[in-house]
Amino acid sequence: MIGVFDSGFGGLTVLSALLRALPDYDYLYLADSARAPYGARSAEVVNEFTLEAVEWLFAQGCPLVVLACNTASARALRNIQQLHLPNRWPDRRVLGVVRPSVEALAGLPVGTVAIPDKTAPADTEGLVAVLGTEATIASDSYGIELRKFAPRIRLVQQACPLWVPLVEAGELDGPGTEYFLRKALEPLLPPHPAPRRVLLGCTHYPLLLPVLRRILPSEIEILDQGALVADRLADWMRRHPDQEARLTRGGTRRFCTTDDPEWFAMRGEKLLGAPLLAEQVRLSDRCGKPASAGTVC
Ligand code: DGL
Repeated sequence: MIGVFDSGFGGLTVLSALLRALPDYDYLYLADSARAPYGARSAEVVNEFTLEAVEWLFAQGCPLVVLACNTASARALRNIQQLHLPNRWPDRRVLGVVRPSVEALAGLPVGTVAIPDKTAPADTEGLVAVLGTEATIASDSYGIELRKFAPRIRLVQQACPLWVPLVEAGELDGPGTEYFLRKALEPLLPPHPAPRRVLLGCTHYPLLLPVLRRILPSEIEILDQGALVADRLADWMRRHPDQEARLTRGGTRRFCTTDDPEWFAMRGEKLLGAPLLAEQVRLSDRCGKPASAGTVC
């Protein structure tokens, strides 16, 4: 199976793009809904939770795990790839959404491999923007990756802490939502220079697309992260046939959540556009708050 991990149901925006582009494979989606949102959590906690999720997906038999969550990709992926995989699971792979998104932000065509410190056939200059959770933006992961192969492209990074709660509350449109979206988008609106492309660097933000499209000038391209991650994953599989050969192709889909499965299924079906059955699983007793706070998870 291909394991797909997100802090909650938002990652289904990425999964549905994967299902469109690569429908034959078996998928196991894991949502850590009981501990979501991750966006305002510390790097240490996001690292710990993400590692637990990856270990769980490996234990279920996933040789490949995709971190659909931007916050997990930004905060935890490097540690997992550099520390944990080589020591404990040298034959498994964990991929995130930051690198493929940065390649698309820089205009790098699918199928081109950007080599750090070498000029890639990407845009050489210009202005682009990424919108994300506080944790994603604070990590500077998008900036770090972009500077590796397109150092002259300028990047505006904007944290939008209120957008995930708006989506979770189902407030996808209306004057209140528009007010908070405009407020966060100010650095991208006149009199500031318009970026060429804007990446919605959070699983939840595609649900705000109609309002975003209304607010942002029409010449700005808004990148759909799910679709670009799916295209670049298909390309990665072509370049790694040994890894691809380990994936089963039965077309099955399994959905697991650490919180109420019925709630997850109800929210998830709307994103997936198809009925789904979810199971509840347990990752650990940690809820991410200091033990001294006396919190019961
Ligand atoms: N999945 C998270 C992301 O893409 C958003 C929700 C959260 O904060 O956990 O960053």
